[in-house]
Amino acid sequence: MSKTVNGFSKLNKFEKIDWLIENFFNGDNEAKNTLSQYWNENEIIQDLHDDFIENTISNYYLPFGIAPNFVINGKDYVVPMAIEESSVVAAASLVAKFWSTRGGFKAEVLSTVKIGQVHFMYEGDKAELQKYFNTKKEDLLKATSAITKNMRKRGGGILDVELRDKTEELENYYQLHVTFETVDSMGANFINSCLEAMANEFENENIRVVMSILSNYVPECLVKAEVSCKVEELYAENSEYLAQKFVEAVQIANVEPHRAVTHNKGIMNGIDAVVIATGNDFRAIESCAHAYSAKDGQYRSLSNATIENGIFKFWIEIPLALGTVGGLTSLHPLSKLAMQMLGKPSAKELMQIIAVAGLAQNFAALRALTTTGIQKGHMKMHLTNIIKGLGASEADKQFLINYFENKTVTHNAVVEAYNNLRK
Ligand code: MEV
Repeated sequence: MSKTVNGFSKLNKFEKIDWLIENFFNGDNEAKNTLSQYWNENEIIQDLHDDFIENTISNYYLPFGIAPNFVINGKDYVVPMAIEESSVVAAASLVAKFWSTRGGFKAEVLSTVKIGQVHFMYEGDKAELQKYFNTKKEDLLKATSAITKNMRKRGGGILDVELRDKTEELENYYQLHVTFETVDSMGANFINSCLEAMANEFENENIRVVMSILSNYVPECLVKAEVSCKVEELYAENSEYLAQKFVEAVQIANVEPHRAVTHNKGIMNGIDAVVIATGNDFRAIESCAHAYSAKDGQYRSLSNATIENGIFKFWIEIPLALGTVGGLTSLHPLSKLAMQMLGKPSAKELMQIIAVAGLAQNFAALRALTTTGIQKGHMKMHLTNIIKGLGASEADKQFLINYFENKTVTHNAVVEAYNNLRK
């Protein structure tokens, strides 16, 4: 029998769950218990979460951790991170501490331009279109003036509107390419509203607007973060040799896409965790970062490293479209708290913090990969998780951690060791 359903969104939460249990859990209420365990007893909080999306049936928790000891441009930060991967916060904290005694991180916003486009089709004479655009340009801006009023007061607004001929790529295809400054907001709604107003103003019987939408590719909303120190300050022993390996690891990621994807994934471990904790849009950040990594046609490392005149330098340049006002940033109590923890940063300051989180994570990964290997740290966290899953006492936990100090951690091996211990 078909399980398609009509008018589902009109059912209340409990009815939705009943429908789910009946149709996809054979009426077994175990799933219902799991869902209700994650409901918040505070009705205000629960209602808030229910309303974030449609058809909410429960809350999906992610651990919310903090990484202390970040020094960025001479200022101390504790960085909030929401992430499920066990080693990320630990790595961030270690690396933050490490660089705090070597001058800290330096970060700089290079540009803050956002982009939106009205994509349209036009079959007529190109010169006529250009003429029409020239006469319309002022009206396009006027059509958005009510929308941009507040943004202009805050120092932002529309920077420019260009007519772009894309007919080489697709027959009859043109666009209005619009650039924006959105100050402390990510600006998605603002940009889309402006574009739709412009599209209405621009469209005529010869211009067929296909769509109006911001671009999440913002190569000119760019931030740079870096660390540097004398090569001999980098490792306790064999510093020159290990620093060289570190630089080679970055060079490999730069020329080899298979490695670059994993290398950048490690960077995004740090970036996404702070993006999510601060209520920003991690899908926008992700898609932009990867497009930027491939800006010259090959997917490459987002970070760079050099050794010059005995100085090790490691840096990242990454586009980050972030907001510190609007969206979820102040709606979600934990994002709001994350922003407070960071000292209520401007969007520019948040760009710097998040680029640093990415660089720190990349540093931790490359340092581990080019020295002890990644599994040592990962397995330690994995071991703790398995032990926790077994419900072991504190004493048993300590025993197992010592026992596995020089042994390979597998789920079975830990269970066996635990069972032997219990015997
Ligand atoms: C794991 O989540 C991330 C790493 O694989 C990143 C890297 O290989 O650089 C450790």
